[in-house]
Amino acid sequence: MMRDVAGDLANFGRDLPKAELHLHIEGTLEPDLMFELAHRNAVPLPYASVEDVRRAYVFSDLQSFLDIYYAGCRVLLREQDFYDLTWAYLTRAAAQGVRHAEIFFDPQTHTDRGVAFEAVITGIHRALDDGHDRLDISSGLILCFLRHLSVDAAMQTLTDAMPYREWILGVGLDSSEVGHPPSKFRTVYDRARETGLLPVAHAGEEGPPAYIWEALDLLHARRIDHGVRCTEDARLVARLVEEQIPLTVCPMSNVKLRVFPSLRQHNLKRMLERGLLATVNSDDPAYFGGYVADNLEAAAAALELGREDLILLARNSFMASFLSEGEKRRHLNDLSGFADQPSLKTTS
Ligand code: HPA
Ligand code: ZN
Repeated sequence: MMRDVAGDLANFGRDLPKAELHLHIEGTLEPDLMFELAHRNAVPLPYASVEDVRRAYVFSDLQSFLDIYYAGCRVLLREQDFYDLTWAYLTRAAAQGVRHAEIFFDPQTHTDRGVAFEAVITGIHRALDDGHDRLDISSGLILCFLRHLSVDAAMQTLTDAMPYREWILGVGLDSSEVGHPPSKFRTVYDRARETGLLPVAHAGEEGPPAYIWEALDLLHARRIDHGVRCTEDARLVARLVEEQIPLTVCPMSNVKLRVFPSLRQHNLKRMLERGLLATVNSDDPAYFGGYVADNLEAAAAALELGREDLILLARNSFMASFLSEGEKRRHLNDLSGFADQPSLKTTS
């Protein structure tokens, strides 16, 4: 009987223990939950059906996606809505081998609509607690500033977050990249770092390599989210390799937002070959058509990645996380144990 080698590799990639480090919780709002929450909260939707929603998810660039993503967020009003959103993500992540998740949330998307910061963070936090207890997924929360809004608004958001400081791991920067360089947020990041929050930033998705330099030198980012345009600057690549600064790459997102014309043209494989600490993540899976293991599977098929590449990507995901050295070691041991199972040895 013929073996389904691609299917074996996909199963292997799905079950491989992994961390997810680039995931916007608002980007996990699946159309069925969007309808349920719209009904629960009596919020009108511009879509007639789930199929209608899916048909609307055709994007020409980052901004065309963001417009639809922020509109979808309007159904999120109460603490329980944020709990349900986060719990739905965690159950999906568990089925895709996720053992640890560092999750972005966008408080300004909600507080600017009159939703209390407390409702947002309490709902998310309560689900993360349950995810730890019931799904054995550890997690951290990364508060993202919307870069198209002012630096004063970002500073106010950081102030609003302080009563919940213990629940937050780091700060990030998302939304419309071009025209809003990292340098705009230097003072906010200075203050966030003073409180012990770990800095990351989206850079080099649509923006130029100069934005990655700024994220490193001005914001002191410990990871770069996306960062795929780094390969346009050899000196930058040399630095990222030398310092092993992680890049949280999101292949399906990059194709949906037309950062690359197709997955076959994605630079993920070249990044790995060059020695960059690249990881694979889902970004906004409800909008881009796949969760983290789906991203691994699609990238593996398009770029002819093998079993060793998938193991390297899973290893990188833990290495790039903010877990303690002891926790990293424990996950890497689990990963080795999984990869060494005799029944899986025959794949590729
Ligand atoms: N880039 C910038 N902002 C975002 C993204 C992204 O990929 N997803 C959600 N907000
Ligand atoms: Zn993102």
